[in-house]
Amino acid sequence: MILSIESSCDDSAIAITEIATCKLLFHKKISQEFEHSLYGGVVPELAARLHAEALPKILEECKPYFEHLKAVAVTSSPGLTVTLIEGVTMAKAISVALKIPLIGVNHLIGHIYSLFIEKEARFPLTVLLVSGGHTQVMEVKSLTEITTVAKSMDDSFGESFDKVAKMMGLGYPGGPLIQELAKDGDRKKYNFTLPLAQSSLLAFSYSGLKNAVRLAVESAEKDEYKNIAASFEHIATGHIINKLKRYFKTITPQTFAIVGGASANLYLRSQIELLLKPYHASLLLSELKYCSDNAAMIGRVAVEMYQKKMFSSLDTLDVSPKSIL
Ligand code: KG4
Ligand code: ZN
Repeated sequence: MILSIESSCDDSAIAITEIATCKLLFHKKISQEFEHSLYGGVVPELAARLHAEALPKILEECKPYFEHLKAVAVTSSPGLTVTLIEGVTMAKAISVALKIPLIGVNHLIGHIYSLFIEKEARFPLTVLLVSGGHTQVMEVKSLTEITTVAKSMDDSFGESFDKVAKMMGLGYPGGPLIQELAKDGDRKKYNFTLPLAQSSLLAFSYSGLKNAVRLAVESAEKDEYKNIAASFEHIATGHIINKLKRYFKTITPQTFAIVGGASANLYLRSQIELLLKPYHASLLLSELKYCSDNAAMIGRVAVEMYQKKMFSSLDTLDVSPKSIL
């Protein structure tokens, strides 16, 4: 079995995965949404302190599995440095105490493998990762053959929802709150500019849209917020669709996947489904409970890495806020 730890942002999670079958034997996550909602976003130092409390509590419940552990895996990048350190320090301590190898996992690859919890991994895939930290399109041929074809130049898709929710005083995380508010709104009421519409760049940008929404919020009455939210969600999604359309002129999508916390967005899902229809491409989604950050996806990657003996050294495994992908 492999014990895996996730602490890259505001979720403390530990999983136990059986190596031979990929079966998830244990998974527990303690989210810090309530604590951060008071500030309208994640406060890194507070998050680190909450991980320091939560992770040992969850680990206590894993004790019956200790004698069966063959490796310990942990998210080492990308993420918030101060929160990644909490998980990596715990993983190193377990590796030393139980004399088992250490596996440093890339969080983005974790999101890709959230598609394959308790399942066989199948590639090739074109993957759209939409989370609080990333908006990224990747071609994935295998665990080690991942090419990024587009990423955000500034804010991410999920982050823009968080910021718009904060402007409206709705709380955190903003994604589900804006989605709910937008349900009854008029998507065409506010004519926000589609980002990078004339540019041939395969890239994403949300900072201009965020500022346009800020101006609209500042001059609107509260009962207008639903229309602003709906128009924002429409353009934020339209931006992704527009760039994917451009990309699909160069490749024909066959199996397309959406992963990451914001892949729970229903409007985005429906628009991607429409986009894929003419190509007869299939759409893969993670189970809703594995869209947002979790340790099950880290454990699933770790099984592949364990089989390939992709171990990290205790001395050199370090945390990094930036991804190599
Ligand atoms: O993957 P995740 O849990 O954490 C990161 O790796 O960043 O993603 C969290 C992000 C937050 O920004 C949250 O607002 C967003 O995913 N999110 C959504 C929805 N549900 C979560 N964004 C838009 N629509 C949603 N329904
Ligand atoms: Zn994530």
